[in-house]
Amino acid sequence: MISQFNFPTTIRFGVDVVKELAGYLQKNGLSKPMIVTDPTVAELSFLKAIVKDLQRNNISVEVFSGIHKNPVKSDVYKGTDMWDATDRDCIIGIGGGAALDVARAILLRINHREDLFKYDDLIGGDIYVTNDVPHFITIPTTAGTGSEVGRSAIIADDETHQKKILFSPKLMAKIVFADPMLTMELPAFITAATGMDALTHNMEAFLAKNFHPICDGIALEGIALIKDSIVQATKSPDIESRSKMLMASMMGAIAFQKGLGVVHSLAHPLSALLDTHHGLANAVNLPYGMKFNIAGYEDKFRRIARTLELKNESGEGVVSYLFNLNENLQVPIRLSGIGVKAEHIETLADLAFADFAHPNNPKPVNRENFKDLYLEAL
Ligand SMILES: NC(=O)c1ccc[n+]([C@@H]2O[C@H](COP(=O)([O-])OP(=O)(O)OC[C@H]3O[C@@H](n4cnc5c(N)ncnc54)[C@H](O)[C@@H]3O)[C@@H](O)[C@H]2O)c1
Ligand SMILES: [Fe+2]
Repeated sequence: MISQFNFPTTIRFGVDVVKELAGYLQKNGLSKPMIVTDPTVAELSFLKAIVKDLQRNNISVEVFSGIHKNPVKSDVYKGTDMWDATDRDCIIGIGGGAALDVARAILLRINHREDLFKYDDLIGGDIYVTNDVPHFITIPTTAGTGSEVGRSAIIADDETHQKKILFSPKLMAKIVFADPMLTMELPAFITAATGMDALTHNMEAFLAKNFHPICDGIALEGIALIKDSIVQATKSPDIESRSKMLMASMMGAIAFQKGLGVVHSLAHPLSALLDTHHGLANAVNLPYGMKFNIAGYEDKFRRIARTLELKNESGEGVVSYLFNLNENLQVPIRLSGIGVKAEHIETLADLAFADFAHPNNPKPVNRENFKDLYLEAL
């Protein structure tokens, strides 16, 4: 069997690395960036400092921040309107997964003007994506999705709220500036939820059924970094814990090119139906999804348990570690704690079964399994 392995973009990583941005633009002949961010980050002092620093270096900056919490197509169209109206030469995505996804979708739309969802990967739309995309730079400000090193953007339909995936290696950033200082002020709740998303990526990628020993190694080290730092980063953040979480979130996203699994399929419908934050939805479902996966995969769970340095080196040990971790991080351990009601379960099960993530789960998941998992977690 022949396999193919692809690895991501250049990553500049470290405290204050964002100060290299102006020099990088100048070196690449870029002087008119459009920053894409979200309305909260747009008001934070580090964003204003980045804009000031660029302006000091005679770089003209426009900031687009009109995006929804779970981004929709019209956000992307409005951002493209700003690009058209302001004569820009590159895109800098600064923010969490939501802002970076919109930045990547605008990047695509600039020279691909058919309906955005024509490029939906699930209907084979990636074949229409050409190399004609502007220079793209990403700067993460959460440690969760790892979207900064990714090649996809998740954008929902304005009316149906159905999430579509725009995907192409051509949409990868040319360079990532990953500066843990930008994550220092993340509120505890967001740190916990985004950090559990990163843990879910690493665990699901390690278990995913495709052959990818390179990603397996990255995923295990990602799990180790999160074990060392997620509680500290949430409860009393310091540079070391923030740095480890930022690194582990990129490692999770690199590893999940191997595939995700049942937990992400349980989580996606919660965002679609109830607007639940992506990381929070994963956090609550993670212990239940992992419990479902143990039988038949005991050896892999033993490796995860060893990585977590658990006394109980088994799948059950991993599951109880995850429940304890959620409690410690003040994440609800039941779906009822995040607004799910019994009457939602049938619709959730339909959506989860239709989701794109679980075909890579190590064992098959049918609609009844999803229903049972939701009921167990309720
Ligand atoms: N492209 C992918 O591969 C991929 C994978 C998973 C999820 N996603 C998408 O990513 C999104 C979730 O991303 P996320 O978990 O990073 O959350 P997010 O982008 O929604 O950010 C969470 C919150 O944190 C705030 N925030 C961001 N940085 C901050 C900072 N430094 N200080 C203070 N507040 C800050 C934001 O304003 C927002 O309110 C979802 O839309 C999901 O669909 C994409
Ligand atoms: Fe995720």
